[in-house]
Amino acid sequence: MRVLVTGAAGFIGSHVVDRMLDDGHEVAGVDDLSSGANVRDDVELWRTDVADPALAGRVAAWRPEVVLHLAAQVSVRVSVGDPLADARTNVLGTANVLEAAHAAGARKVVFTSSCAVYGVPDALPVPADAPLRPASPYAASKVTGEVYARMYRELHGLDFTTLTLANVYGPRQTPEGEAGVVSIFTDALLGGRPTRVFGDGKQTRDYVYVLDVVDAFARAAGEKGGGERFNVGTGLQTTDRELHTLVARAAEAADEPESAPPRLGDLPAMSIDPAATREVLGWEPRVELREGLVETVAWARSRV
Ligand SMILES: NC(=O)c1ccc[n+]([C@@H]2O[C@H](COP(=O)([O-])OP(=O)(O)OC[C@H]3O[C@@H](n4cnc5c(N)ncnc54)[C@H](O)[C@@H]3O)[C@@H](O)[C@H]2O)c1
Repeated sequence: MRVLVTGAAGFIGSHVVDRMLDDGHEVAGVDDLSSGANVRDDVELWRTDVADPALAGRVAAWRPEVVLHLAAQVSVRVSVGDPLADARTNVLGTANVLEAAHAAGARKVVFTSSCAVYGVPDALPVPADAPLRPASPYAASKVTGEVYARMYRELHGLDFTTLTLANVYGPRQTPEGEAGVVSIFTDALLGGRPTRVFGDGKQTRDYVYVLDVVDAFARAAGEKGGGERFNVGTGLQTTDRELHTLVARAAEAADEPESAPPRLGDLPAMSIDPAATREVLGWEPRVELREGLVETVAWARSRV
């Protein structure tokens, strides 16, 4: 089938493009290259802003069956500093992509959300039907994107599935994303520079390997899971201090981070429950953190 991938040059989007091609689909990408730099010569890439109203005409002419929407302003901190810029890309951009998909007669849009939408949850791991409590403009923009997707389904019959991603790590990741700490530790430890762990090091995150995430996109692109939100995470928590130990082992470096004061606004703990994702989409995280970090460090080393 014809698949349009927005954010195609980004960390996750570029792996999604690779997988779609491997699965035999015809692929085109949209990316303004504001942060992504992973461009393949053999894939048509439209270098444009997802919020550009001219996008609809182009998408309508190409007629994708499915649109995988990953393009976004991805930094929580940037969104706090400039909420309007965040909303322009993440809210207007998503509305524009939905309108373009509708104009093209597409079957489905897969919308990329984040575990940040759950804010400080009542219990961990957070189920996909937990209340949404966005605590940043970024999280609010992701909630709004999903509201728009649901509305397009009601209004126009354009199907959608939302994938709520945990902290995604792996080759091609950058320090800006939600698992940026993996990049930061990796680059510092490989470069022989000091590393820092904030607070008591007991803050937790749910790390999911990028190729597992890509598999969730491949499954969501099918007929299953229409109109639903799915968690794409492991359900496991890893503390910052444990993560440091694992990255240090993979990098064959000393496990001796410096301590720094806690950072204001950091959520204390997060993990998301993939039970419904397993049940409906048949998806499971397969790559253990230890294993995925070895791949990530090998990739980072190959770039030095
Ligand atoms: N990395 C994570 O841990 C994580 C966690 C939860 C959700 N997500 C979501 O996954 C998606 C992909 O994130 P990523 O980690 O690959 O980040 P990324 O920055 O590598 O990818 C985003 C891509 O979107 C492009 N882009 C940004 N603004 C654009 C615009 N206005 N028009 C067109 N293209 C634009 C960038 O150039 C980049 O290639 C995003 O929607 C992000 O919010 C990521």
